[in-house]
Amino acid sequence: MTTTSAPRIPTGNRDDEIQIYDLHKSFGQLEVLKGITTTIHRGEVVCVIGPSGSGKSTLLRCVNLLEQPTSGRIFIINEEITDPDADIDRLRTKMGMVFQSFNLFPHLTALQNCTTALTNVLKKPKADAEKIAMANLTKVGLGERGGSYPGQMSGGQQQRVAIARALSMDPELMLFDEPTSALDPELVGDVLAVMRDLAAEGMTMMVVTHEMAFAREVADRVIFMDGGVIVEEGHPKDVIGNPQHPRTREFLRRVLDPTHVHAGDEDAAYAERHQSDLKVDKTGGGHLPPGVGFHSPSLG
Ligand SMILES: Nc1ncnc2c1ncn2[C@@H]1O[C@H](COP(=O)(O)OP(=O)(O)O)[C@@H](O)[C@H]1O
Ligand SMILES: [Mg+2]
Repeated sequence: MTTTSAPRIPTGNRDDEIQIYDLHKSFGQLEVLKGITTTIHRGEVVCVIGPSGSGKSTLLRCVNLLEQPTSGRIFIINEEITDPDADIDRLRTKMGMVFQSFNLFPHLTALQNCTTALTNVLKKPKADAEKIAMANLTKVGLGERGGSYPGQMSGGQQQRVAIARALSMDPELMLFDEPTSALDPELVGDVLAVMRDLAAEGMTMMVVTHEMAFAREVADRVIFMDGGVIVEEGHPKDVIGNPQHPRTREFLRRVLDPTHVHAGDEDAAYAERHQSDLKVDKTGGGHLPPGVGFHSPSLG
């Protein structure tokens, strides 16, 4: 028998929800992803961390083919989305995506934002769509706000509507790209609380985030990316609490300790804005002090 062989793809294992094999992505001459291979399993919460420009958003956008990979293969529940013949629209309905900038329709109410794809794409009757949408708005603490327009809601509320909208499509997994980065610090906690509840219900989640306290508390696995590669991945206790690679250490030092950052650095600016969230225990391992990163949620 030969000793090693290439991994069998797709694995055929129903618990392998996202399989990424040697993913490369270039924009012109700029190679942004330089061979990413990882598998995200059913019910797993994976937080992707790393400096600005390291390719985190591009990775997430390749997973649902908002960006076309240059090479490599991606499977969503063992169906290849990078197959030229793939039914991309159908595969995309398996994935909810939440962006930093909410992307709600400003001329539609919260309820209509949640029902529009249900009635127009999934062809559900209006009454059924509204029932589903209301259930999800209630779930994110906005059951009373269905009639509000995005402009009448705080950023945190708008982001929770965006989550309810994604959940209304009954996705198998959720992709989040820095969902709290555009929010005022006092609104971050409510959104993270909704995400923590989703994780506790067993939703498969891939979350690009700078919220180290959230990653430590909620993630099953943390992926640290830098320069288009996965530098280090593992349990948050290890990757955040006891990083092995010098690049991971340097990144965490900058993000967790705003006094060590250089002016003008995007991560530094972020750290400054979110200083109160970032006072994580830097002694390594252990639990977070109560309330850190999760200002007590006051949903609704
Ligand atoms: N559509 C695009 N066209 C050209 N360059 C892009 C595009 N999207 C991203 N990039 C570049 O790719 C690199 C990685 O970007 P991104 O994936 O957004 O990183 P991150 O999310 O980690 O901050 C950056 O240098 C960025 O400027
Ligand atoms: Mg990004």
